[in-house]
Amino acid sequence: SWTPDAFVDLTVSELKEKIGNDKVVLGLSGGVDSTVAAVLLHKAIGKNLYCIFVNNGLLRKNEFQDVLDQYEHMGLNVKGVDASARFLDALAGESDPERKRKIIGNAFIEVFDDEAHLVQDVKWLAQGTIYPDVIESVSATGGPSATIKSHHNVGGLPDFMKLKIVEPLRMLFKDEVRRVGKSMGIDEERLGRHPFPGPGLAIRILGDITPEKVSILQEVDHIFIQGLRDWGLYDKVWQAGAMLLPVNSVGVMGDERTYEKCVALRAVESTDGMTADWVNLPYEFLQKTSNDIINKVPGVNRVVYDISSKPPATIEWE
Ligand code: XMP
Repeated sequence: SWTPDAFVDLTVSELKEKIGNDKVVLGLSGGVDSTVAAVLLHKAIGKNLYCIFVNNGLLRKNEFQDVLDQYEHMGLNVKGVDASARFLDALAGESDPERKRKIIGNAFIEVFDDEAHLVQDVKWLAQGTIYPDVIESVSATGGPSATIKSHHNVGGLPDFMKLKIVEPLRMLFKDEVRRVGKSMGIDEERLGRHPFPGPGLAIRILGDITPEKVSILQEVDHIFIQGLRDWGLYDKVWQAGAMLLPVNSVGVMGDERTYEKCVALRAVESTDGMTADWVNLPYEFLQKTSNDIINKVPGVNRVVYDISSKPPATIEWE
C-alpha cells in the first residue's frame, strides 16, 4: 500500500537515476506543491537544484523575506529575486482582470527566463505539478504556450520552456503531497498554508493597482489572517483573504467626516476550490477584526464580510 516514506525513497532513487549530474531549475512560489517538489529534488540531487523565488510585489506582508528565510533554513539552493518594481510598473493603469493576469504571467516568464539563463548548462525544468493539474491541463484548450510572449524569443518559446521537464508529484493528490512533505520534515505551518493565487493581491485589488493600494491591502490581510491564527480559526478555513474595493464611502473620525476605502473580507470552506461556502465566522471575531482594521490601517473606514457561495460567486472577486 502507498506510504509517504516509500514514495520518498522510490522517487529519490528514480530522480537520481534520471537526472544524474545535470542541473535543474525550479520556480518556488511559497506554496505547498513547489516546496515539496523542491525538497524531494534536493534530497536527490542537492546543490544541482537551482531554486528561484520571485517577488512579484503582490505577495502577502513579509511573505517574500519570511519564506526565503525558511527555504534557506531547509538547506535549499535558492535565489530570491525581487522584481516588485518590474511587475508594478507593468501593471500601472491596468484595471481589466484578465489583462492583469496576462501582464503578471508574462512578467514572470521574462524574469524566470533571465534567471534560468544564469544557470550554466541547465538541462531540466522541475515543476510542482500535481495530479489535479494534470487532469485540468488535459481538458484545457490552448495550453500555457498559447498565451506566452517572450522578449527573448519573439514568436517562439522562452528558452526555459525548451528544457526537459521533471514533475515528481504528478501522480499525487494534495493530501498525499502534504503527507510526503510531512514525512520529509517540512514545517506543518507551511504544509497547512491556505491556497493563494499566482497573481496574488493584484486580483484582490479591484481596478488599477498602485504601490499604495498594495500596502493597504497587505496590512488589512495581515490583520485578518493573523487574527484567524490567534483565534484558532485558520485551520478551519480552506482559504481566506481581503479584497480592496474601488469604492470610497463616508465615515466619521473624531469631529471629521472621512471619505475612504472599503475592504471586503472573505473566508470559505471548500475541498478543491471548484465549489465553496462562506464560513460562519464568530461575530466576536468579525467585530474585533473590523475594529482592528479600521483603527490600524489608514485609508480604510469600512469593512464588510462576503456571504456569497461559489457558485454563483467565485472565491476571488476578479
Ligand atoms: P475562483 O476565484 O475561480 O478561484 O473561485 C478558485 C481558486 O483558484 C485560485 N485562483 C487562482 N490561482 N492563478 C492562480 O494560481 C489565478 O489566476 C487564480 N485565480 C483564482 C483562487 O485563489 C482559488 O483558490
